[in-house]
Amino acid sequence: MASKNVNIIDIIRDRKTKLPTLSVVASNVLQLASNDKTSAYDLAEFISKDQALTNKILRLSNSAYYGLVKKVDSIHRAITVIGFHDVTSLAVGISVFSSFKMKGIAKVLDMKDLWLHSICCATAAREISKKINITENEQIFLTALLHDTGKIIFALYFPEEYQKVLQEAAELQTPLFRKEQEVLKTDHAKVVGHLMERWNFPDNLSTPSRYHHDTSRCPLEYQKEVLIVDLANFLCHKLDIGRSGNTAVLDITKTLKMLSLTIEDVMKIVKEIKAQLPKMKEFLQLMA
Ligand SMILES: [Fe+2]
Ligand SMILES: [Fe+2]
Repeated sequence: MASKNVNIIDIIRDRKTKLPTLSVVASNVLQLASNDKTSAYDLAEFISKDQALTNKILRLSNSAYYGLVKKVDSIHRAITVIGFHDVTSLAVGISVFSSFKMKGIAKVLDMKDLWLHSICCATAAREISKKINITENEQIFLTALLHDTGKIIFALYFPEEYQKVLQEAAELQTPLFRKEQEVLKTDHAKVVGHLMERWNFPDNLSTPSRYHHDTSRCPLEYQKEVLIVDLANFLCHKLDIGRSGNTAVLDITKTLKMLSLTIEDVMKIVKEIKAQLPKMKEFLQLMA
């Protein structure tokens, strides 16, 4: 177990630290996806070389989550039907989910609960984006899906301390990120920002993740994304879909105002999210 005096950010920054690795395929997929010159054909060709990943993407594409009528039988077809960015998100999401299948974490965090929270946030973020007519925001699903993975790093490196942090935050009804800052001198949002940097994730993924509990400091360029994740996170907590270890969520009045959303808009988004719960659960089974 890491000593209390060791700075978690230093651990992540230290190239010698053995962090959960992102598969080579996933990091190449991310690089391909962020290159404007990459065609759907290039991406499909690349993913199709990995049979296990291909099978998982096809199973997810054919799940109720996407609700397609016709069967998707190739990555080419998946890109045409569910889209270039969704296929990218699935490829990277699957890889991150499997990177964290490690013994010991389960003693601190309930991974099934955390992943359901993550899938709910990703689904909610997509619904919010639709509501505010953001179409160019394709990475939002993945940002919301991975926003809390910093908690897993805490559970891995500071299991005893983190267990205490989780317990105290719940007992005192303190937002988890505040308790983390108090005890561990950093929070899971900052940690995930560093982890994503280490994994060479593009800025449009790492920056909104890093600021999801400090939205006012997020660079203007990613202000919308960070507000969407903040609202998605709030809604999933209130709907009690999945669990993230946090039991005290902060008010989102300011976030709603900044996104120009009314209470009626939020009620519609909530209805959409609730309707998708069975699909999210199926998605979780296939993803995990
Ligand atoms: Fe969080
Ligand atoms: Fe969260």
